[in-house]
Amino acid sequence: MQMNNRRNRIVYRLWAPVYDAVLERFFRDARRRALELVDVRAGERVCIIGIGTGSDLAYLRAGVSCVGLDLSEAMLAQARRKLPVAGCEVELRIGDAQALPFESAAFDAVILNLIVSVVPDPRRCMAEALRVARPGARIVVFDKFLPEGSEPSLGRSVSNRVAKLLGTDLNRHMGEIIAGLPCEIEHDEPSILGGMYRVTLLRRT
Ligand SMILES: C[S@@+](CC[C@H](N)C(=O)[O-])C[C@H]1O[C@@H](n2cnc3c(N)ncnc32)[C@H](O)[C@@H]1O
Repeated sequence: MQMNNRRNRIVYRLWAPVYDAVLERFFRDARRRALELVDVRAGERVCIIGIGTGSDLAYLRAGVSCVGLDLSEAMLAQARRKLPVAGCEVELRIGDAQALPFESAAFDAVILNLIVSVVPDPRRCMAEALRVARPGARIVVFDKFLPEGSEPSLGRSVSNRVAKLLGTDLNRHMGEIIAGLPCEIEHDEPSILGGMYRVTLLRRT
């Protein structure tokens, strides 16, 4: 089963009212780490792609200007409830991570938390994130990936059928997603679930 935007809209409309109650605590430490690594400073512009219910907003420093984009109006409605964010300018936009409605090189930093495993075409999503990032910008990715060079076990393939129904894909390779794109990995570390999730800091070249 392929992921697609139509199904994602439906799935995340269902997730929206319960997403924070079910998952916010589980992701909290890893999310904090991702935000620490990307280190968005006062005066910088950050784009949060697939912002969902806006859990990343709590970790923004005062003086940051932020645009958060998501495909799901229901998820954005939850994010709107977290506004205003003290000292920050935040704009929420509806849109597709695979065709961002922003100019090239518009952002100093980009946050891709739990979105690369969700969009139908993760390479297009990453290419777009890099297009809107200025040269030298930081891009943080917190998500789950298959270890490089490995294939999914039978158990993981079966679990992935359920995961896709819930709106995420367990079996993507970071290496394939960024191959040939204008970025380099600056830091990569294992995160929750014994390293199934990773936090990776990329630099736009
Ligand atoms: C697993 S949630 C993660 C939300 C948030 N980034 C977080 O860290 O909690 C995935 C989000 O991606 C959004 N999404 C799915 N497909 C998308 C697309 N093509 N473009 C933008 N957002 C999309 C969903 O609506 C949902 O809010």
